[in-house]
Amino acid sequence: MEFTLNGDRCRVEPGPGESLLETLRERCGITSLKDGCSPQGQCGCCVALVDGSPKATCAVPAESMAGRSVVTLEGVGDEERRMIAGAFASAAGLQCGFCIPGIALRAKALTDRDPCPTREAIAKAIDVHLCRCTGYVKILDAIELLARAKRGEAVPPPGADGRVGRPLERFQARRTVLGERAYVDDLSAPGMLHGALTLSPHPRARVARIDTSRARALPGVHAVVTAADVPGERWYGLLYADWPGFVAVGEEVRCVGDVLAAVAAEDRRTAREAAALVEVDYEVLEPVLDPVKALEHDAPRVNPVHENLLSKTVLRRGDAHAALAASTHRVSGTWQTQRVEHLFLEPESAFAEPLPDGRLRLCSQGQGIFDDRRQVARFLGVPEDRVFVELVPNGGAFGGKEDLSVQAHAALLACTTGRPVKLTLSREQSVRMHPKRHPITLRYTVGCDALGKLTAVMARMIGDSGAYASVGGKVLERAAGHACGPYSVQNVNVESFAVYTNNPPCGAMRGFGANQAHFAMEACMDLLARKAGLDRWEIRWRNALRVGDLFATGQRMEKSVGIVKTLEAIKPHWDAALAAGKKAGLACGIKNSGIGNGVEEWGKARLVVEADGTVSLYNGYTEMGQGLFTVLVQFAVEATGLPAELFVARVDSTFELQCGQTTGSRATLFAGRAVLEAGARLRADLDAGRTLAELAGRCYAGDVVTRDTTAPGAPAERIKTHTAYGYATQMVVLDDHGRVERVIAAHDVGRVVNPLLCSGQVEGAIHMGLGYALTEELPCPGGMPATFKLRELGVLRARDMPEVEVILVEDPEPEGPMGAKGVGEIGLVPTAAAVASALEAFDGIRRTTLPMKDSPAAQAMSVGRIRARV
Ligand code: FES
Ligand code: FES
Repeated sequence: MEFTLNGDRCRVEPGPGESLLETLRERCGITSLKDGCSPQGQCGCCVALVDGSPKATCAVPAESMAGRSVVTLEGVGDEERRMIAGAFASAAGLQCGFCIPGIALRAKALTDRDPCPTREAIAKAIDVHLCRCTGYVKILDAIELLARAKRGEAVPPPGADGRVGRPLERFQARRTVLGERAYVDDLSAPGMLHGALTLSPHPRARVARIDTSRARALPGVHAVVTAADVPGERWYGLLYADWPGFVAVGEEVRCVGDVLAAVAAEDRRTAREAAALVEVDYEVLEPVLDPVKALEHDAPRVNPVHENLLSKTVLRRGDAHAALAASTHRVSGTWQTQRVEHLFLEPESAFAEPLPDGRLRLCSQGQGIFDDRRQVARFLGVPEDRVFVELVPNGGAFGGKEDLSVQAHAALLACTTGRPVKLTLSREQSVRMHPKRHPITLRYTVGCDALGKLTAVMARMIGDSGAYASVGGKVLERAAGHACGPYSVQNVNVESFAVYTNNPPCGAMRGFGANQAHFAMEACMDLLARKAGLDRWEIRWRNALRVGDLFATGQRMEKSVGIVKTLEAIKPHWDAALAAGKKAGLACGIKNSGIGNGVEEWGKARLVVEADGTVSLYNGYTEMGQGLFTVLVQFAVEATGLPAELFVARVDSTFELQCGQTTGSRATLFAGRAVLEAGARLRADLDAGRTLAELAGRCYAGDVVTRDTTAPGAPAERIKTHTAYGYATQMVVLDDHGRVERVIAAHDVGRVVNPLLCSGQVEGAIHMGLGYALTEELPCPGGMPATFKLRELGVLRARDMPEVEVILVEDPEPEGPMGAKGVGEIGLVPTAAAVASALEAFDGIRRTTLPMKDSPAAQAMSVGRIRARV
C-alpha cells in the first residue's frame, strides 16, 4: 500500500485488520501518536491528519489509506511546531502529556481553519479528546495562545526564572507536547519481543488445567510462561504478598484481572493472538461480590493469605453516644459511593531487557520504582541489585499505578527469552487488572448544639476492597481518620472496615478515602445548618479547625491550619451568589500530606554535577503529571542559585533512593526538603569559588526522614497522625437549569511553588471530582466491569467543564520545603459534596448516592451512558 506520510511517499504492507495507528507506530516508527484506547477511537491520543482532517487512527483500517496523505506532528513545519510547543508550555496546558500530541494536532487543524476560535468552539473541537489530568482549562488557554501566535500576535513567554513562586515551564514540556518524550510503550530495542497476558474470564473459579500448546505452536511465538515457570516468589503485594503474578493449576482465580499465562512473540498482534489461544479449564465457583455478605461467618474465603475482613480501624474519643443524646440537633443517614476507574490515559506497560553484565534493565511507569524492583527481584528469585530499574514518567496514574501490574511478567519473559520484551495492556485488560477507587457505604450520625457547634460524630464505613489487599486497608483507615472533615469535634466514634470480595481490587486513588468520608460528613453539615437555622457557610466557619484544635484522630493541629482562610476567601463569592439568587453549594475539605500513621517517611535526593555542565537531579518519587520534577528543579534553583535549564530530573536505581510509593500528597513535601538539603551542599562549594566544571563528578546528597507520626491506636502522649494537611473550601454554582455553571475553589497549599502548575492540579482534580459527583462509575455485575468503553465510564469532556476559579491561599507549613505542602489530592476531596449541596438548593433533593446521575447537572453532561456489557 502506498500513501503519503508527512510529505514523503511511503510503502507498507499492513497485516489483515491492521489499524492505521498500528501501521504508523509499529511499521513507520511514528510515536507522537499514542495508544490510549485502541480500537475504540474514544480518547483522541492517536489523532493524525488524514487529507487534512483529524482522524482517530486506531479506528481507521490501514489499507483505507492507499493514495491518501497522513500528517503527524513529526510532519508539521518547524515554525508551527515551535508555536504549538510554546503555546502549551506557556499556558501549562499539559500535565502527564499523554493526551497532548493528539490535541495539539487537532489545535493545529482548528487554527488553520479558524484563526480566531472562541473558547466554546475550541471546547467543541476537542470533544473527541479525553484528558484525565488538566480539567481542560489550561488546554483551552493553550489553544487560544496558539491561535494568537499564528495570527502574529505576541504571546507571553513561558516562565523561565525557576525561583520558587514563579511559573517555570514544566520539565520537558515542549518535547512532551510534540510527542517526542517517550513513554514506556514508545521504547524499543533491537530484537525486542512483545508480551501479552491471558486473564481469567471468571471472578471466582478453580483452575483445573492450563494448556499452552496451541499458543506455543503459533508462528512468531517465542515463549509462553505460567505459574510453573516463576523461579522466585510468585505472590507479591505492597502490604501483604496476597496477589499471585500467575494463578497456578489447583488454585482459585479471585477476580477477572487474574493472570494465567504470559506470551512473548515477534509482534503485539501475534502475542495477543497467542494469549487468546491458551486453554484453561475452570471449575466455576459462586463469587463473593457483596462486602457485607463476605463478612458472614459461612462466606467462602476470598484470599488464602488473609481472612475476608482485611482491616478494621477504630477511632474513639470522648463519649459520642452521650454527646449525641445531649445535642440540640442531630442528623443521621447512609451515604453510598461508587467504584471508579482511574482512567489514566496511558495503559500499563513495562519494558525489560537483559543487560550484558547479567543484570536486568526494567523500565517502569510505576509510582514507586524501588517497590517495583523489590517485588520483581523476589519474583525472579534474584538479589535486588540484579535488577536496574528506571522510571519512565507515566501518562497518568492517580494512585492506580502503585501496585505491580505487568512489570514482573515483562521481566520474566525477558529472562526466559534472553531478549528485550515490552508488555503493554489493552484498555480492557487495564480496566480489569488495576485497583479502583473503593465503593464505601457510610452511616453517619452527627450532632450540634443550639449555636451550631458540633458535639459528636458517629460513623460506620464498609468498603469493598476486591480480591487483593493492595492498600485497601489504608484507604479505609484514611477514610476513618478524615471522618470529621476539617472540623473540631470533641466526641468521635468511628469504625471502618475494608473487606475482600471477588470484585476487581480497590486501592489507592486520588483522595484515598477522604473523598468518600467528606461526601457524607459535608452533607451532615448542610443538614445541621438547616436544623440550627444557620447559613451553610456560617456553620462551617464556626466549626472549622483552628490552631490548637483536635483532628478526628486526636492530633492537635499546631501549624498551617488554613481552612478558615479558605472559607474567608470564598465568603465574598458565596454572599454574591446568594444575593444574586443563584443556587449554590459549598463544602470544605482536609487531606493529609504525608502517609504518617507511624510510617517512617523519606525524602532522598542526589545532585550530580555532570561533565557536560548539567546537574542530574535524582530523587526517589515518581513524576506522573503532577509536576514533581518541575517543582524539584525550582527548589534546586533556590538552593543553588543555578539556572533551571541546567537541571535534568531522573529516577532510577543508580542510587539507593527508596522512598516508597508516590502517594499521600507527600512527594513535594519530602523530596523538596531533600533537594533543598542537597542543593545547599552544592551551593557551599559554588560559594567557595569552585566552578561547575571543577565540580564535575561530585555528588551532593540530601536525605530527610520523618519518624514522629503515631500509628493508629498506639499509646502516645501527643498524637501526630500526619506531618501536614492541605485544606480547601469549594463552592459550586448552578445555572437556571440546574447545570454546573461555575466552581470556585480556595486551597491552602502552604506555599505556592509554581502558580500555574498548582492551579492546574486543582483544576484537574475538580474535573475528576465533578465526574465522581455526577457521571463516573464502574459497576461490576457478576464481578466483571460492565464496560470498557471510555465514553461510557463517564469522564467529562471539555465542553462539560464549567468555569473554574482557583484561589491559592498560603498558610506556610513549617515542616515543608519553604512552607509548601502537597496539593495532589485535596482538589477533589470536597467537590462531590459541594455539588450535592448545590443540587439540593436547586431542587430540594438531598442526594446520598454517587454518582448523582438523576440530577439535572448530570443529565446535561455529554458523556455516554453504560449500555450493555462489552
Ligand atoms: S487510541 Fe485511538 S482514540 Fe484512543
Ligand atoms: S495531560 Fe491529558 S491525560 Fe494527562
